Amino acid sequence: MVTVAKIAMEWLQDPLSWVFLGTLALVVLQLRRRGKAPLPPGPKPLPIVGNMAMMDQLTHRGLAALAERYGGLLHLRLGRLHAFAVSTPEYAREVLQAQDGAFSNRPATIAIAYLTYDRADMAFAHYGPFWRQMRKLCVMKLFSRRRAETWVAVRDECAALVRAVASGGGGGGEAVNLGELIFNLTKNVTFRAAFGTRDGEDQEEFIAILQEFSKLFGAFNVGDFLPWLSWMDLQGINRRLRAARSALDRFIDKIIDEHVRRGKNPDDADADMVDDMLAFFVEATPGKATGAAAADGGDDLHNTLRLTRDNIKAIIMDVMFGGTETVASAIEWAMAEMMHSPDDLRRLQQELADVVGLDRNVNESDLDKLPFLKCVIKETLRLHPPIPLLLHETAADCVVGGYSVPRGSRVMVNVWAIGRHRASWKDADAFRPSRFTPEGEAAGLDFKGGCFEFLPFGSGRRSCPGTALGLYALELAVAQLAHGFNWSLPDGMKPSELDMGDVFGLTAPRATRLYAVPTPRLNCPLY
Ligand code: HEM
Repeated sequence: MVTVAKIAMEWLQDPLSWVFLGTLALVVLQLRRRGKAPLPPGPKPLPIVGNMAMMDQLTHRGLAALAERYGGLLHLRLGRLHAFAVSTPEYAREVLQAQDGAFSNRPATIAIAYLTYDRADMAFAHYGPFWRQMRKLCVMKLFSRRRAETWVAVRDECAALVRAVASGGGGGGEAVNLGELIFNLTKNVTFRAAFGTRDGEDQEEFIAILQEFSKLFGAFNVGDFLPWLSWMDLQGINRRLRAARSALDRFIDKIIDEHVRRGKNPDDADADMVDDMLAFFVEATPGKATGAAAADGGDDLHNTLRLTRDNIKAIIMDVMFGGTETVASAIEWAMAEMMHSPDDLRRLQQELADVVGLDRNVNESDLDKLPFLKCVIKETLRLHPPIPLLLHETAADCVVGGYSVPRGSRVMVNVWAIGRHRASWKDADAFRPSRFTPEGEAAGLDFKGGCFEFLPFGSGRRSCPGTALGLYALELAVAQLAHGFNWSLPDGMKPSELDMGDVFGLTAPRATRLYAVPTPRLNCPLY
């Protein structure tokens, strides 16, 4: 043994042995690489930081421009992280259908992990038994059509929107801030669905918390990409995260305590989502939410699911973020597009006059008799998908289209670019709802997740569980606004002059709020 060690030591003292070892290491590396598929094309990364100088281009528009240059699957290196942008229907099918098992995790930044109580919600939980149970809870209970109170909230708040427009327009001639009124509608619906009817002061406190969450979700944090810098908290983000989560704790703990005290039966017609979730509630140590709620994947929720306070808080935030801005931005875009394209507004109003008549406003039972309304909604969601980039993460090493996508990569499916993909859509950038009519070229296309050129609600396992609720609010609000009023733009503005720019955040809403002048159109009073 001693002799072997002695020989090795002597051999290492010879400089030629180091040359030999270096060459051997290179050959092994080359052989390992040769077996692997290459990474897809993309802008050349710098050492250590990679493509981080391009962070401002990681929007739906920026990535679509990069895709023109590098193709439908492109690669970026963001510090330690591999990121991929998917911009064609073919690659989207590969990621969301053919290999969806490997692509169904969610990426979470430091801020998201902290603000969701370490992924104690559904939207950011990794794919697995815990997520499956949460999904069941949402689909079967919280967002279900059987939760009557939520659907009643949509109906009441749409009626309140119509009243606010009618009184705000001063009986004709004055512009209303339609964007703001629409945002109030969806905010009120989600707030009421989650917590029941509460006073306005509570709502304002909650909105301030949501706004800080939203800013923190979107804030660039260098620690996400260069983790060895995160302990320094150079941007003061960790301090803001702690303050934001404490504010939410104070707000929702009070509400949970009230709900526990009143002990409402979740089957009551006026039960809210907190009542529903309390049926699965167990007090647990704060911060241990995810483990406590993890279940064994059985079918019976009541036997398998346990929710802690942190789970309840995190799911409420999913509802707030998933259901407020998404629906509001779609309603506002639908109205803006129709004011930009008045012939389509007239066609919809004619359909409403024929089917509903001018003596009452639209109600839920009319919606399925309004085919052109459905086309307007589809065309709006094609051009302005409220969530323009679907964020997924790989759970395993994958190969897509001959390219390598390593485990733990961030994958951004650019639904906005796919909805405007020139090879899939004629006049891709034009608002033309008639393309979805039975005579139109897109007649058979729907957004249920099987048509990969049209994915406003995503596709596969992580697709939107709130689709039915979102669509109901969207269709009812657009129908009531189009039926209840004639619309013109303020200060003699021509339709072609309307600003149609968007901004990128959690959703892609209009860059400027939509102002418009309503003139009542029905033979009955609106309030
Ligand atoms: C027009 C309305 C809406 C649109 C366009 C929309 C769109 C989407 C999209 C594109 C996704 C991600 C799919 C993916 O990553 O592959 C999603 C997920 C989600 N949505 Fe919606 N959504 C809408 C309304 C709602 C509503 C009303 C709620 C709840 C009340 C909701 C709750 C959620 C949740 C919790 C997720 C995460 C699901 C998961 O990760 O498993 N959404 N939505």
